[in-house]
Amino acid sequence: MTDTADPFFEAYHRDEIAYGETPAPGVQSIIDLSRPTDSGPLRALDLGAGAGRDSIALAKAGYTVTAVDLSEMGLERINQRASAAGVGPMVSTQAEDVRNFQFETESYDAVIATTVLDHIPAADAIIVWQKIVRSLTGHGLLAVEVHSSEDPGSDLPPGCNSEAPKSETASAVVNYFQPNQLAQWASESAANLRILRYEERLEWDYTHGPEHLHGKVSLLAIRQGNSPQWYGQPSLFPRRKR
Ligand SMILES: C[S@@+](CC[C@H](N)C(=O)[O-])C[C@H]1O[C@@H](n2cnc3c(N)ncnc32)[C@H](O)[C@@H]1O
Repeated sequence: MTDTADPFFEAYHRDEIAYGETPAPGVQSIIDLSRPTDSGPLRALDLGAGAGRDSIALAKAGYTVTAVDLSEMGLERINQRASAAGVGPMVSTQAEDVRNFQFETESYDAVIATTVLDHIPAADAIIVWQKIVRSLTGHGLLAVEVHSSEDPGSDLPPGCNSEAPKSETASAVVNYFQPNQLAQWASESAANLRILRYEERLEWDYTHGPEHLHGKVSLLAIRQGNSPQWYGQPSLFPRRKR
């Protein structure tokens, strides 16, 4: 079955749902860093939520999650998976373009954008980024991933010169990030963020279609002024058990 309007339809429709169930590394870090509050459940916003690997993990960790995506098939999968995991009431899905989403200011304890800012043109991505950072609470955590210009699907060098296999959904990525670009966005004083982890890397993807290479950038940040108990991930030098 196909849906020509949705480049992700097939990837989310198949039995082995694309991207698997393991949350993105930054989302796992957010879960590890999250502390319950007295003021009700923590709120998360998952932009470009796909089939929900990040949304479901956050809901299992006690977050109420708003999952936004253009793919109706992806959102259907999220609802199925949330019900199967017993967290259906914790997850609400919204079929919407992230560029039109009505962000609430200073409202989300966690915002996730795992490869969506690279699926919209650069001029739109910076506007959505600014809305994202304004939507974080005073202790809010942010996990962002984007494809880099090292990805074999990139129209920019060095990725465009790569002979490595590219993703079955590479044509949906329209905005490959340059080295340091996301770090620069996060470092601007207007972003009011503190970077906990930033990485630019190559990785192989076995979670959908024929295996392929990715150039990726990932950012984990927290609202400026916070000092969470963060020992890195993996925790290389945690306190020894006594
Ligand atoms: C590479 S997938 C990542 C899915 C999910 N975040 C994950 O990591 O498992 C990108 C997702 O972004 C969604 N997407 C692309 N452009 C979008 C837009 N303008 N607004 C909302 N979602 C969008 C796609 O439908 C797709 O589900």
